[in-house]
Amino acid sequence: MLGMAMSARSEAWAALEAHAARLADTRIEDLIAVEPERAERFHHRLGPLLLDLSKQRLDDDALEALLALAASAQLHEAIHAMFSGAPVNVTEERAALHGALRFGEPEAGARSPAADAARQAEVVLRRMDVIVGEIRAAAAHGGLTDFVHVGIGGSDLGPRLVCAALGAREPGAVRTHFLSNIDGNSLDALVRSLDPRRTVVCLASKSFATEETLLNARSLRAWLSAGKNDGLAVERLYAVTANVGAAKAFGLGESHILPFWDWVGGRYSVWSAVGLPIAARFGTPIFRRFLAGARVMDVHYESAPFDSNLPVLLALAGIWNRNLLGFSGYAVVPYDDRLRDLPAYLQQLEMESNGKSTTLDGQPVARATAPLLVGGVGTNVQHAFFQALHQGTDVVPVDFIGVVRAGHMHVEHQRALLANMLAQGAALMRGTRDDEVAVDAQRVPDARRREILERHRRCAGNRPSTTLLLDELTPDALGMLIALYEHKVHAQGLLWNIDSFDQFGVELGKRIAKSVAPALAGEEGAHDLDHSTLALVRQIRERSG
Ligand code: F6P
Repeated sequence: MLGMAMSARSEAWAALEAHAARLADTRIEDLIAVEPERAERFHHRLGPLLLDLSKQRLDDDALEALLALAASAQLHEAIHAMFSGAPVNVTEERAALHGALRFGEPEAGARSPAADAARQAEVVLRRMDVIVGEIRAAAAHGGLTDFVHVGIGGSDLGPRLVCAALGAREPGAVRTHFLSNIDGNSLDALVRSLDPRRTVVCLASKSFATEETLLNARSLRAWLSAGKNDGLAVERLYAVTANVGAAKAFGLGESHILPFWDWVGGRYSVWSAVGLPIAARFGTPIFRRFLAGARVMDVHYESAPFDSNLPVLLALAGIWNRNLLGFSGYAVVPYDDRLRDLPAYLQQLEMESNGKSTTLDGQPVARATAPLLVGGVGTNVQHAFFQALHQGTDVVPVDFIGVVRAGHMHVEHQRALLANMLAQGAALMRGTRDDEVAVDAQRVPDARRREILERHRRCAGNRPSTTLLLDELTPDALGMLIALYEHKVHAQGLLWNIDSFDQFGVELGKRIAKSVAPALAGEEGAHDLDHSTLALVRQIRERSG
């Protein structure tokens, strides 16, 4: 049975390679020119979200072949396995049940790992609501003004993204701040503007063992108590963690600890109590709408046919670009400042999940996995890395993300913003026409020089992009958008046959840092460090004054 599945998969990959060879000289704009209705046919809508794949360098037959790959990889079964709580994180023998965090209250009597998980999540959400109520009440009376969220990676990027995306806080709500790095400059800059008597601090760490978070936590606890006793400090300290014991050992009482579970991966934890700053700033009903949006995407991912399934289609377009066309980069560019933290969020989601070289059965992967993801907001990045996207030697597919109805009244700004987004997709696709690069013979009479200048001006085009349009940046639409990418990453991991839920690669550097720190402090002893690193240690020690 397994052998049959493997050979169906190999056949599907072989068919795709044939399609890639067939389309090698095809230009995207020609695909559209010969069939203008392709533009609409390659549109896929789910509620407020439109996915446009018409500027991908593939045709119907190639798409069919990609869908056949999805079928051969038994994607349906694998998606169901994830949502039902099977231990799909095989290396760590854990479920990946972030879907349960946004499931809502399961029916009374429903018994399954997913229903049990959803029930646990609901209990914590209610506790979170109580804490949020207290924080918001204190904020309304001016007793509290600021909320500092301390965490890193998955314990930081999600709430940071959502707080920025959902816009201005209401009057009287707490200001939210995020501290992730161990850089003392960040700590200084943060506390300089805050009053310890009017600030709550939330420590978010699944493991409660992450060096950055614990160091920041100790420094902030000392700052909160400002020379007084630690008891005062812990009154304004909360923790969100899967390691409740460690949070207690840090000095927190049970009522100040919101748990989550090993079945929630760090980079999938924004839907858990890690989202506390979102609820504190915007209220729990808004946080619940964010969860509900993600739930819509979950249901869609699990039930929609693949040829209209947004996460699957987005995943397949990525597979086509990465594995069949060989593009090793990938850019995500939201044209909305409120989504400025989305590229960083997706860097972790995509590269920590799928930056792997070993298959589920322990073999070297047969094909390239996660591309290098870069990003930033448009239009800013048009004046930074877009030059390379238009004329560089590497083709970098782009996801453009736009919001149709802006959260402001500046019609001219919004029109210009979206015009730029659409123009960039069109420009990448079509490149320059001859008349656009032509140099005026009167200005440059030398024909040879004209030809050289024209070559410099030319953009080859045929560079693919995807466009995602959100009607509005509501909490629901944002939940859908993030879940769309989560599932896209999941589907790609399945197609690559890797474990998208572990991240062993990040451990080595953490371990070595433990040897380097004593060396920097000048402690004697074998630090197990190489000569190059030791030479840098010496330089730092000699010059640190
Ligand atoms: O970077 C590794 C990692 O384990 C991420 O997966 C995680 O999001 C981050 O560190 C923070 O971990 P924790 O929530 O346990 O502090």
